[in-house]
Amino acid sequence: MDYINSNKQAWEDAFDNSRPGWGENHLEKLINQTLPFFNQDVIVELKEVGLDGKTIAQFCCNNGRELLSAMQLNPKHGIGFDIAENFIEQATQMAAKIGRANCEFIACNLLDIDEKYHGKFDFIFFTVGAITWFEDLELLFSKVSKCLSPQGKLLINDYHPFTNMLPTPGEGAYDPKHLNRAVYSYFKKEPWVENNGMSYITPEYHSKTFTNFPHTLSDIINAVIHAGMSIQKLSEYDYDVGLSDVYNNKGFPLSFILVSEKMGREI
Ligand SMILES: C[S@@+](CC[C@H](N)C(=O)[O-])C[C@H]1O[C@@H](n2cnc3c(N)ncnc32)[C@H](O)[C@@H]1O
Repeated sequence: MDYINSNKQAWEDAFDNSRPGWGENHLEKLINQTLPFFNQDVIVELKEVGLDGKTIAQFCCNNGRELLSAMQLNPKHGIGFDIAENFIEQATQMAAKIGRANCEFIACNLLDIDEKYHGKFDFIFFTVGAITWFEDLELLFSKVSKCLSPQGKLLINDYHPFTNMLPTPGEGAYDPKHLNRAVYSYFKKEPWVENNGMSYITPEYHSKTFTNFPHTLSDIINAVIHAGMSIQKLSEYDYDVGLSDVYNNKGFPLSFILVSEKMGREI
C-alpha cells in the first residue's frame, strides 16, 4: 500500500514545516485547562463511556494532545498510535513534561499494530480527520476490533461524509452567495491527492503528497458492523469540526459521533 508510506512522509514533512507557533500552547492547555481539545458533545460521550481505570488508545493520535487530554478522566493506561515518527516524539515529550508516566506513544501504521495489543483496550477513539487516511475501512475496523477487549468501546468523532459534497472557501466551486448548494457527489470513490500542505498545521506550500479517501456514512457503519461491533449511538451535528464554519447551523449534517461496542464474535 504505497499511499500509506507516502502519507507517512507527507505528515512528517508537515511537522517539519509547521507554521511558527503551531503546538506551542498545547502543553499550557493540557496543564491549565479541563479536557482541552474536545468539544462539549465529545466530552459528554467520553464521560458517559467512562474512562476511569480503563486501558485506552487513540488511533491516529498526531502529537498526542487529545489522548493526553483524555488522560484527565483517569484511565489506568493510555497508548497513542500514529504513523508519523516526529509527531510521536513530540507526544512522548509532552507526556513526560506533564508527568503522564501511564501514557505512551507508538509510531506505526495502524494496520500493522503489533498482535501483542490485540484484546488490550477497553476503549479506542478516533478524532477528526483520521479514518479518511484508510482506503479500506473493513481492514481498519477489523484491526480496531482485534485490539478491543470483549465489550470494549469505539468512539469516532469526525466530519460527516455529507461535507464531502460541499465546496469550502478557497475552492473554485465555492460561492458564498449560494451556501445551500451541494456540488460534489456523495458517492465519490476517487481519493483526494494533494500537495498543498496540511492547512491546520502548515502554511500553504508545495508539500509531499497526501492521499486520503472519501467514505459514505453507510461505508463507515457497515465496516464497523462487519468487524463485529454493535452500534450503540450515532449522533449528527450541524456544526463543522475543522474545515470551515460557513455552513454551520444551516440544517446540514457537518459532523458526527459514533459509539460502538465489540460483540463476542467477528462477522
Ligand atoms: C488529522 S490527524 C487526526 C488527529 C487529530 N484529530 C488532529 O487533528 O491532529 C491525522 C493523523 O493520522 C495519521 N495517520 C495517517 N495515516 C496513518 C496510518 N496509516 N497509520 C497511523 N496513523 C496515520 C497522521 O500522521 C496524522 O497525525
